[in-house]
Amino acid sequence: MKPSFVIVGCGKVGTILAKQMKSSGYQLIGLASKSLASAQKAAEETKTKLFSDIPWEVTISADIVFITTPDGIIQETSRKITENKGFKQNAVVLHCSGALPSTILAPAKTCGASIGSMHPLQSFASSESGTNPFKGIIAAIEGEENAIHIARQIAEDLGSISLTIKTDAKTLYHAAAVVASNYLVALQDLAFKLLQISGIPEKSAFQVLGPLIKGTLSNIEKVGTVKALTGPIVRGDAETVKKHVDEIGSMAPDLLTLYRTLGRHTVNIAESGGNLSREKVQLLLQILAENG
Ligand SMILES: NC(=O)c1ccc[n+]([C@@H]2O[C@H](COP(=O)([O-])OP(=O)(O)OC[C@H]3O[C@@H](n4cnc5c(N)ncnc54)[C@H](OP(=O)(O)O)[C@@H]3O)[C@@H](O)[C@H]2O)c1
Repeated sequence: MKPSFVIVGCGKVGTILAKQMKSSGYQLIGLASKSLASAQKAAEETKTKLFSDIPWEVTISADIVFITTPDGIIQETSRKITENKGFKQNAVVLHCSGALPSTILAPAKTCGASIGSMHPLQSFASSESGTNPFKGIIAAIEGEENAIHIARQIAEDLGSISLTIKTDAKTLYHAAAVVASNYLVALQDLAFKLLQISGIPEKSAFQVLGPLIKGTLSNIEKVGTVKALTGPIVRGDAETVKKHVDEIGSMAPDLLTLYRTLGRHTVNIAESGGNLSREKVQLLLQILAENG
């Protein structure tokens, strides 16, 4: 029989986790949230009798406790449950934050629990989900040995691919995820704005650039970032890069710093691929310098 579990924090992740873990055979014995209404709603959706707005009333007999409150409240929640002796000996306490290490759960260790984190690398926009949103995604796991072991098993049972990371690497791991997702949006926004200034309406932007974006992502997947790089910088075409800088400087000066910063990083990528002479690198970096 699979271990029992409790969810504390019945929002998007907590509720979906409750549903999917239950479907995978784990015994959901209770749910707690800040408001009784959220706990009750999740309990109704998962057909669970025990729910409360006092976490330690439901956590005390669980083998696994997931604290899925907002990041800023995880530590305090773990501390309050501990103060009320709400973790059983040998329980595994996990949170799902990508940014925070498992060590914020440390108070739980005084009850004899082991601590860890399991971050599903996925965007959960609502607690409703027709299909299993954990299927095929990465679940980044860190923490104490027993907690890692249990979290890996849960991830696999949910259909995720578990990736064990170092606790002190968590911040950079999360920064990488933010760059890959949020900054990709920011980057496309920059491209769309330049296109718009060139006279192509915003509503057509994705139609125009979409195939290029998708083709580039596909190339990165196939050959990696260095070999996927095309365009004027990797060709050493300093004249074109200078024209870009001059035109953006005159038509959209507020976007120039970002263009230059990304350009300098692109020069570094091209150089690491052995595609540029030292002179070309110097010339491009000069054009792309803040006051170039
Ligand atoms: N959303 C995502 O895309 C995503 C992806 C990966 C990881 N995560 C992580 O998953 C965790 C939960 O995120 P979320 O997006 O599911 O947040 P959320 O939808 O805002 O849900 C958080 C829930 O925590 C409850 N809560 C707040 N304070 C509490 C307290 N003191 N005691 C008990 N429950 C409390 C809230 O309860 P009430 O409803 O009762 O007020 C709310 O339902 C976070 O660590 C987040 O970083 C989120």
